[in-house]
Amino acid sequence: MDNGLVLRSFTAQRRAVPRLGARAAAAAARLVPFAPAREPWPRSGAASFESDVLAGLAQPQKAIPSTWLYDHRGSELFEQITRVHEYYPTRNELQILRSCAREISDAAGPRAVVIELGSGSSRKTRLLLDALDTPQAYLPIDISEQFLRESVAELPSLYAGLRVLPIVGDFARIETLPELAVLRAADSDPGRRVVFFPGSTIGNFTPDAAVALLRRIRRWAGPDALLIVGADSTQDPAALIPAYDDREGVTAEFNLNLLVRINRELMADFDLDAFRHEARFDAQHRRVEMHLVISRAQQVSMLGRSFHFRAGESIHTENSYKYSLPAFQQLAARGGWAHAQRWIDAQARFVVHVLEPIAGARACATDVRLMARDAL
Ligand SMILES: C[S@@+](CC[C@H](N)C(=O)[O-])C[C@H]1O[C@@H](n2cnc3c(N)ncnc32)[C@H](O)[C@@H]1O
Repeated sequence: MDNGLVLRSFTAQRRAVPRLGARAAAAAARLVPFAPAREPWPRSGAASFESDVLAGLAQPQKAIPSTWLYDHRGSELFEQITRVHEYYPTRNELQILRSCAREISDAAGPRAVVIELGSGSSRKTRLLLDALDTPQAYLPIDISEQFLRESVAELPSLYAGLRVLPIVGDFARIETLPELAVLRAADSDPGRRVVFFPGSTIGNFTPDAAVALLRRIRRWAGPDALLIVGADSTQDPAALIPAYDDREGVTAEFNLNLLVRINRELMADFDLDAFRHEARFDAQHRRVEMHLVISRAQQVSMLGRSFHFRAGESIHTENSYKYSLPAFQQLAARGGWAHAQRWIDAQARFVVHVLEPIAGARACATDVRLMARDAL
């Protein structure tokens, strides 16, 4: 028992995590001493924000990728969401991580290099770092620059010897991030690459885009990597809708903040009072959708362009796909990964998947396009 949550471990194929032989290990990517980053805080892609919003509002179903919900205020609000009563995913994932961190540490081995995708507050990462055997580096990647900077500020003083290299950028383009070039072949001690992807952020991608992302991670991280993904598996709308539409209205403010951001950064004139937040469950696609619904017709201008909104129409701002265990297993396999371990909480709502590359899997398949706007 752990605060009322009984953890069930689905480690049917539990086995010693294979270590590479010396030759293979030499070929695998390794960590060299960190060179000072050329530019530790690159700009976070204002051009993409502008083009994604302009393109998204021109579609018949207006839609904006959920990545853009996370300006500094958006990140603060998301952190508040993780603490509201109705939002079980963070609570349940933390409980699982508290209980399985030691086993993950065994799988990771000593001197691991932890790369986190969409690190947010890095709250969950601390459980991992606490359990790991002398982790050598932590590279959190997030699009929300200032929030990332604040979240990792105290880590170097808490973990002596840990190199912390925050990276502002789009994790969906992991291969193109220049800061990750510091992880390259060398003769020094190779720690295992542990890619940490918690928070059910994978659910923000359409399944095809998630597969493409998993393939990219596999190709980038190499054959000895470990991938830890936290994913919501809940299918019950009675639990899901309140989680995405809490009584305090924090999620509503998080969603509406996108319009505040667009007004400020793209010189738009959305009348915020005309919009309300709505969470919908799409049973066919097994996903929660967030929308901003307008109550009355409105003409919005932005950067010299004009967009018409009919009364009742919406802007689709987030998808959150929910994966049953078999569905996730299939998704992972398409992406070139297989389970080493998986953990589910006693409410059977959330799963932490510990994955390893499938040997010989084709990581570079090109049948799926990965585009930022797929990651609604
Ligand atoms: C659902 S939150 C999860 C935060 C944290 N990992 C957790 O588990 O609480 C998603 C996080 O990913 C970041 N994010 C979203 N899209 C991103 C992208 N394409 N590239 C980098 N970061 C992204 C957001 O800024 C946010 O911090």
